[in-house]
Amino acid sequence: MTSIDRYLAELHTSGVLTDAALARAFRAVPREIFVAAGFRGPDGGWTTADDPGFQDAVYRNAALVTKVHGGEPVSSSSQPSLMAQMLTALDVAPGHRVLEIGAGTGYNAALLAALGADVTTVEVQEDVAAAAGAALARAGVTGARVRRADGWDGAPDLAPFDRIIVTVGVAGFSAAWWEQLTADGVVVAPVAHGGLQPVMTVRRTPDGPRTRVLCPAGFMTAAGPLFARHPGSHPPPVLPPLPAELPPVPSTVLDLDLRVYHDLWFAAAAQDRRVTSVPALLADHLGGLALFEPGSLAIMLPDGRIRPHGPDGERLASDLAALAAGWQAAGSPPLSAWSVTLAPGGDPAHPIWLPAGFAVTAG
Ligand SMILES: C[S@@+](CC[C@H](N)C(=O)[O-])C[C@H]1O[C@@H](n2cnc3c(N)ncnc32)[C@H](O)[C@@H]1O
Repeated sequence: MTSIDRYLAELHTSGVLTDAALARAFRAVPREIFVAAGFRGPDGGWTTADDPGFQDAVYRNAALVTKVHGGEPVSSSSQPSLMAQMLTALDVAPGHRVLEIGAGTGYNAALLAALGADVTTVEVQEDVAAAAGAALARAGVTGARVRRADGWDGAPDLAPFDRIIVTVGVAGFSAAWWEQLTADGVVVAPVAHGGLQPVMTVRRTPDGPRTRVLCPAGFMTAAGPLFARHPGSHPPPVLPPLPAELPPVPSTVLDLDLRVYHDLWFAAAAQDRRVTSVPALLADHLGGLALFEPGSLAIMLPDGRIRPHGPDGERLASDLAALAAGWQAAGSPPLSAWSVTLAPGGDPAHPIWLPAGFAVTAG
């Protein structure tokens, strides 16, 4: 079995590669061309094309960090299973004009082009944009162009777009994108919520935009006005060192698998602006769900225990237990049951449409 066969099998097994055209696109586009300058490996070292395990390292269901600045990842090729879910939700047809925000390596743009779309991808970093353009050319992709710009602007001169896909975490949807979207267009974007960026889809309808939640996700955050903080922002992720830990407190919630844990997380964050993430807690996933106030926090573990930290930790633990019990009493709605209303906010010179109201509208 080749690396690419294993890669496709892994994506199939994870249940996200249900669309035949998308499976063909994943087989046709060589990911290694888009990460040829290397990426950060799981051990923190740099994996380059000269390393013997390069092909196996490329063809994994993992995000590959391709640029680091000050120790922080600033560009990457996203996790393929997440890309597959977002591309499926984007519902691309051949001939669609697609705007991507966050070109990164250019790999997602190449997949879109392989689906028959005409792609414009916008990247804020000059060197990253140049590398993505060069990789697309090396891969022989003719249906995608890279533009160096802030994604808030979109690409007004190339509008309208049938689809807009955002591959960097944003606080909300740029007002400029609405003007560039067709009357029945779709936007798929990871939008800040509770310290993560669950992917939301907005479909334009005659009755106004219809926003639904697709899946949990954690992305790097956008530069500039797309990630403006606002009165409804949740606290940023809580990084170590954490305040002193107190003995765990039981809750009514027991042994959630990670999918259901994220259902609870979304619901808690919809109701309480103190909800955020503790990325270091479950390093192999998206971190842990926490209720935070300066100096104290309470963390919900997937096994149902709540861990208080700091002087007000016990009060926060009891608030978190109440949020979890409320979610259970409402029938433990899944993430996909929520609809979201949007309201304008952010930088007045560069407004964005922010999640403003949450309601469970589906079973
Ligand atoms: C996770 S990577 C995108 C992955 C990419 N689609 C791929 O297939 O490789 C996020 C990218 O968004 C870019 N970015 C961050 N803020 C941006 C902004 N305001 N406008 C456009 N691009 C931005 C980053 O520089 C980074 O390259």
